[in-house]
Amino acid sequence: MTRRRGPAVTAAALLVAALLAGCTPAAQNGGTVSLPAVVPAPASIERGQGKPFRLHGGTAVAGETDAAAALLAVVEARTGLTLTGEGRLGVDLRVDPSTGGPESYRITAEAASVVVTGADAAGLFYGVQTLAQLLTRDGEEWIIPAVEITDAPRFAYRGVMLDVARHFHPVETVKGYIDRAASVKLNALHLHLTDDQGWRLHLDSRPKLAERASGTSVGGDPGGFYTKDDYREIVAYAAANHMIVVPEIDMPGHTHAVGLAYPELAEAPSIDEHMREVIRAYGGGEPTPGVPYEGLAVGFSSLRIDDEATYDFIADVFGELAAMTPGPYLHLGGDESLSTTDEDFASFIARASAIIADLGKTPVAWHEAGAASGIADTTVGQYWGFVTPTGGMDERARAFVANGSQLILSPADAIYLDMQYPSGPELGLTWANGPTSVERAYAWEPSDVISGIDDSDILGVEAPLWTETVRTAADIDLMAFPRIAAAAEAGWSPATGTSDLRTWESFRARVGELGPLWTSLGIGFHPSDEIPWVTE
Ligand code: ACM
Repeated sequence: MTRRRGPAVTAAALLVAALLAGCTPAAQNGGTVSLPAVVPAPASIERGQGKPFRLHGGTAVAGETDAAAALLAVVEARTGLTLTGEGRLGVDLRVDPSTGGPESYRITAEAASVVVTGADAAGLFYGVQTLAQLLTRDGEEWIIPAVEITDAPRFAYRGVMLDVARHFHPVETVKGYIDRAASVKLNALHLHLTDDQGWRLHLDSRPKLAERASGTSVGGDPGGFYTKDDYREIVAYAAANHMIVVPEIDMPGHTHAVGLAYPELAEAPSIDEHMREVIRAYGGGEPTPGVPYEGLAVGFSSLRIDDEATYDFIADVFGELAAMTPGPYLHLGGDESLSTTDEDFASFIARASAIIADLGKTPVAWHEAGAASGIADTTVGQYWGFVTPTGGMDERARAFVANGSQLILSPADAIYLDMQYPSGPELGLTWANGPTSVERAYAWEPSDVISGIDDSDILGVEAPLWTETVRTAADIDLMAFPRIAAAAEAGWSPATGTSDLRTWESFRARVGELGPLWTSLGIGFHPSDEIPWVTE
């Protein structure tokens, strides 16, 4: 499989038109959804016997203050009610470790009270996200249906990736994406910080990277970079939303930008006939040493593998990044190093992964790095092949498990959020068997992708969003929603076949019920005609 990049298309006008035209007028609550719609599907949900809980301005909210603040904010956004907390009836938000494993929670909603209990602060936060989805209009009033929910994640790692290299996205946009991802119980933000088209983080040890290699984006669009304070702000905001940040410095390929700052570290671009075809099809010109690259070709760049200065550089970069990153993971890329020999690639990956491990962090690498026999044993592999593997990609992924480590699953033909939709705006690419429908994003089972591995070998699921064509926060919303909910369900919910809720029919009906909540939170989702959207 080789990436083939499509043309950039601006979608803002199309988005507005589609939003106005695309929503179906009435709920189509087929199948399982006499139950309240919760996405991702909870481990267990049962209707209560009694009457619902009625919300009003005087509803009291008691308990943990962070969770209470999160609840008040979402209730106000969804209902317009400002809960004063003075009434007798109320919502109680507690942490009780006996509730269950990490991130688990329980909700008991009845006429007299709503009690949300988290096993930890993250579990309580996820209980609040579920409560937001349970808010239901009843005439002029708002209710929470009588319900009993017991919930816990299937996988520990549930991520999204945002590529801020092909198009730079400012801190506020990243924070907005954190809010959105956390609302569907995702807990990792992988930031693809560097690529051929730009280096997006200032580092004191290597200041020329941000100074000289961040000025542009794909198509000659404006660039940008994060200061260290910006990065810390993103990390802190993510932590407040119970997410870790996984920073990626992609290497040894995808490094043309490094050569703009430190030419002595980079090989000259290696351009073959296939790359010329891509360049002819999509423009952007041939990559030239010392000149910012604004096209869509991949695989032409490499760091100098045989030069010790390269490893001094990597030690500086990951050392500084490790000091600013409280999460356990540093991602070294390792994908599409098409101009590096297998031998050079293996020796490079062995050294880069060892540098990260020696910093006390867990390396993460795209699945190609599984071919490197000397890779640090702790390295987590990220599989980006198709749901049905091709070209030995599953073999490379299995190598991480054979080393005693685990995999993150990002099957490109299901949950690459930058693939075009079958109908709707022309935003996005198609190289991964695209266009990609919401149903295809949903209809895969993590334990079935790589044969010979089971749940204990899977750290989790991550939905990447590459940004060759994605320029704005509105573009991000449109490409991510609703497909991000499918990835969230693969990462959080019980396995396919073990719950009545884990079917496409149930999912599409439940997602349709979330349209009004997403709209009230300002999420400009794609109104896909595969989903029976509810309108209010
Ligand atoms: C990738 O899509 N090259 C990880």
